Amino acid sequence: MLVLGIESSCDETAAAVVSDGTAMLSNVIASQIEIHGKYGGIVPEIASRKHMEAIIPVTRQALDDADVSMGDIEGIAVTRGPGLVGSLLVGLSAAKAIAFARGIPFAGVNHIEGHIAAIFLADRSPDFPFTALVVSGGHTHVYLVRGFGDFQILGQTRDDAAGEAFDKAARMMGLGYPGGVVIDRLAKKGNPAAVAFPRAMKGSVDFSFSGLKTALLNHIKGRKEPISADEVPDIAASYQEAIVDVLVGKTLKAAEDASVPRVVVCGGVASNSRLRGRFFEKGERMGIEIFFPPPILCTDNAAMIAVVGDSLIRGGKRDSFDLNAVSRWPLD
Ligand code: KG4
Ligand code: ZN
Repeated sequence: MLVLGIESSCDETAAAVVSDGTAMLSNVIASQIEIHGKYGGIVPEIASRKHMEAIIPVTRQALDDADVSMGDIEGIAVTRGPGLVGSLLVGLSAAKAIAFARGIPFAGVNHIEGHIAAIFLADRSPDFPFTALVVSGGHTHVYLVRGFGDFQILGQTRDDAAGEAFDKAARMMGLGYPGGVVIDRLAKKGNPAAVAFPRAMKGSVDFSFSGLKTALLNHIKGRKEPISADEVPDIAASYQEAIVDVLVGKTLKAAEDASVPRVVVCGGVASNSRLRGRFFEKGERMGIEIFFPPPILCTDNAAMIAVVGDSLIRGGKRDSFDLNAVSRWPLD
């Protein structure tokens, strides 16, 4: 079955064609990063307007790249939530219009389930059940995944998401947006042991990053001289290390406690190079197999949405044209 995926939950307008839920024929992503970068974060009204401009050309490009026509598409998968409602509605309306015009089914997909399902487009993917860490701009959640649509939450953040912690730190240090990418790059030249940042909520599978953020603020402001450019790589590396430490430690502990020695790490922060390295290193020591989607499928994309949609439509799911976008949609 050929499924067209559409994603517009945040600041990326994306469309992709996926065959049988496993073979990615195209993956088009139009990013708005440069526009929102000027404001240091996403401006929802601008995001929905930009989605409106991009949705048709991006969808056409996805069909062209896959070398198929709209008539070949057998189902549409579209992100229904969680996300910015004004942004989600653009993709959802486009999906409904295509499904209506062509008389094919469409399915509303949970964006977070999409991030997890991205692993099925990778070279290596695990059998169910597995443990999943979803770590993005809005999520830091550990799930036990028994199958498509079958999740149990094992731990989550009590305050900021890890991606938010990266973005806020970069803003505090004037490094630009999105922060994770910049900090990842700068940290490669820094010493991760240079600054002793806190690791919160030891002994729990829940996370908290607000104390870390405050510690960074105190480190930057609580001194006579402003931080110099030479110090930034050390601060970035130490800050990143504090986030990576807790993500790796708590996720692997959760997998061990659940006796599910397979861990999928996904979402935008999963493209972090240090996180990838540390997971493989510690996973090997603990006898836990680690799976990461390729970086391009960690950040927001529509191919991951098509994988979930394929499973839903195959299972008989038919959403109706009054389906609404939802800003919150817990997976479990
Ligand atoms: O999954 P995603 O593209 O969008 C959401 O659904 O949130 O994740 C975006 C988040 C941002 O907070 C960004 O700073 C972070 O992922 N991110 C990274 C890296 N690349 C993106 N964080 C750390 N290291 C990276 N290389
Ligand atoms: Zn996302």
